[in-house]
Amino acid sequence: MSKKVLVATSKPFAKEAVDSISMLAKEAGYQLVLLESYTQQQDLVNAVADVDAMIIRSDDVTAEVLANAKNLKIVVRAGAGYDNIDLKAAREKGVVAMNTPGQNSNAVAEVVFGLMLHLARRGYSGKSGTELKGKKLGIHAYGNVGVMVNKIAKGFDMEVFAYDPFVAKEKMTADGVTPVDAMAKLYETCDYVSIHLPKMKETIGLVNFDLMSKMKKGAAIINTAREEVVDEPSLLEMFGQRKDFFYAADVAPKCKDEIAAKYGDRSFFTAKKMGAQTEEANINAGIAAIKQIINFFRTGDTTFQVNK
Ligand code: 3PG
Repeated sequence: MSKKVLVATSKPFAKEAVDSISMLAKEAGYQLVLLESYTQQQDLVNAVADVDAMIIRSDDVTAEVLANAKNLKIVVRAGAGYDNIDLKAAREKGVVAMNTPGQNSNAVAEVVFGLMLHLARRGYSGKSGTELKGKKLGIHAYGNVGVMVNKIAKGFDMEVFAYDPFVAKEKMTADGVTPVDAMAKLYETCDYVSIHLPKMKETIGLVNFDLMSKMKKGAAIINTAREEVVDEPSLLEMFGQRKDFFYAADVAPKCKDEIAAKYGDRSFFTAKKMGAQTEEANINAGIAAIKQIINFFRTGDTTFQVNK
């Protein structure tokens, strides 16, 4: 019996990516099943019933989904963050969970600059704005996206700083980035702070009022990571107390309407998380995901497993 691979994407891949995944699956002798643009979690629960593998994006692979996936051996998150997979439940069921690190980083990094420019140019409203050139940019967490953000920032002639206790200072220095020892120092120093933290219990609410209030006059935070890493009550407090504070996010907070209504001239939110929503990122991450599944079934390769 040929293996069944489900591609479950509530936010669908570009057609080109699906075509590539489909071609590789076919070559491997797999049957590909698509569940795109679904709106009910129950649709995902139903779709996994007889699949051997699945490719997802921000789709929630909960304990309930896993319990219904009787044949599932592997789930690959086509992307970086895997906070949407119940890793413990997967481990208990013997399901290997993987991500595809780096495959969509450039797309996210480009959006960082789109958001920064939007704030700097006052939403293209006709008001006089500022330039990115010569400004200090702080990268909070120097992973794959942070590295790409630094590369692009160099083209804008920005001065780049980074805080990441898990990355060697030598690596940052080699990339032309000034490593910063303390998180607060990054926020104090920079005109823009771009957040690239993963969502985990240690990072939820990490960017709080205490940290944000250290920022310079007219400073801005750009969040393309996860909404939960910025504490929402703190964000509202910051907007209320600091009339000079700017915030733009590709991961809009729950209070986005309130912020937009009261502080619309100092904030911007994409309608939907769009950072990785490019044809190129979809193709890269989608192809990596199906290849990882093929290698796993053929050779037992678990290189990108995140739930060991
Ligand atoms: C990721 O973690 O890879 C990014 O946040 C992109 O997520 P998406 O696939 O839901 O767009």
